[in-house]
Amino acid sequence: MNDLSDLEAQILNSVKSTQDLATLEGLRVSVLGKKGSVTELLKTLGGLDPEARRTRGASINALKDRVTSALDQQRQQLEVAVLDARLEAERLDVSLPPRPNAEGKLHPLTQTMDELVAIFGAMNFTVATGPDIEDDWHNFTALNIPPEHPARDMHDTFYLKSQQSNDADSAPRKVLRTHTSPVQIRHMMAHKPPIRIIAPGRTFRSDHDATHSPNFHQVEGLVIGENINMGHLKGCLIEFCKAFFEIDEVPLRFRPSFFPFTEPSAEVDIGCDRSGADLVIGKGNDWLEILGCGMVHPKVMKNCGLDPERWQGFAFGMGIERITMLKYGLPDLRPFFDADLRWLRHYGFSFLETPSLERGLAP
Ligand code: PHE
Repeated sequence: MNDLSDLEAQILNSVKSTQDLATLEGLRVSVLGKKGSVTELLKTLGGLDPEARRTRGASINALKDRVTSALDQQRQQLEVAVLDARLEAERLDVSLPPRPNAEGKLHPLTQTMDELVAIFGAMNFTVATGPDIEDDWHNFTALNIPPEHPARDMHDTFYLKSQQSNDADSAPRKVLRTHTSPVQIRHMMAHKPPIRIIAPGRTFRSDHDATHSPNFHQVEGLVIGENINMGHLKGCLIEFCKAFFEIDEVPLRFRPSFFPFTEPSAEVDIGCDRSGADLVIGKGNDWLEILGCGMVHPKVMKNCGLDPERWQGFAFGMGIERITMLKYGLPDLRPFFDADLRWLRHYGFSFLETPSLERGLAP
C-alpha cells in the first residue's frame, strides 16, 4: 500500500503547486490519460488473483477519485484567478464620452427625410411606403392617367423589359415609379379612412442635367376624411413650410395647375430673394416652385373603392432634393449622387442628433 500513498502524495503536491491551466492539463494527462501513472496502475490489476484484485482495485479507484477531485478543484481556482486578472486588466470607463472624432455623416437627403418625419409626425401623420418598381396601373391608370394620356409623356418613364416581349396582349410593362403618388393608391386600397400619411422615397425619370437627376426623391402627402377641403391643404402646407424652413412668416403662393389625379390642382411657390450672392428663403420678390398639390380626384377615390360622396381629401408631392437645396443653400444637385466623401464631410449631418420640433430640426 505504501507505493500508492507515496504516489498520491506526490501527485497531490504537484497539483497544488501548479499555477497555470495549461500545466495543470498536462499534469492531468500524465496521471489520468491513456498512459498516465494511475491508468498504468489500473492495468496491473489484470495479473492479480481475484481476492487481491478486489482490495487493490478499490484502493486504486479511491486514489483516482481523490486525485480527480483535487485536479478539478485546482482547475476551478485557476479559472477564477484568470477571470479576476482579466477583470482587473480590462477596465472599461463607462463615463468616457463617445469617440470625439467619430467619422460618418448623414447625407443631407437623409437629414431632410428625418426632418419631414419629425414635422409631419407632430401633425399625426404616419409614414407609408411602396415599391420602387411599380406596375403601370398603380403609377398611372389608377391615378386617372389612362394609356395614351399625354401626361404619361411628361413623366419620362423608365420601362422595364417586358417578361413576354413577343406577346402583344401581355400585361403592361413594369416601370420605375415616376413619382410617389402610387403610394396613395396602395394606401387607400389597403386602409379605411380617415387617412393621414406621408410617403418619402425614391423616384425615377429619364432626365439628366444640372437640375435633374434620373434618380431623385419625393415625399407624398395624403389626407382623407370627411369634410376635408382646400383650406386644410393650405393650412397644412403653410405649417409645414414654417417648421421646415424655420421662419415665422412664409410667403406662399398657390398657383392653379393641373394634375390628372387632383381637382382642383395647384402648384406652390415659396417667396425668396435671389438678388444677392445667396438665395434667401422667406423674403424678397422672387418665387420658387416647391411642390404640387390638390384635392384628390373623385375618380381616384373610386379606383380605390372609396365613395367620393362620403370622403374627401388632399394630396401633395414635393421634391426632396429641391427643398434640401433651398434650406441648406446647396447650389448644385449633382453632388447629391456622387458619393464624394469630401462633399459628405462638408455638407453631411451628425448622426447623433435626431431632428425634433422641440430641440430644433438641424443642429
Ligand atoms: N405626383 C406629382 C408629381 O410628381 C406631384 C403631386 C402629388 C401633385 C400629389 C398633386 C398631388 O409631379
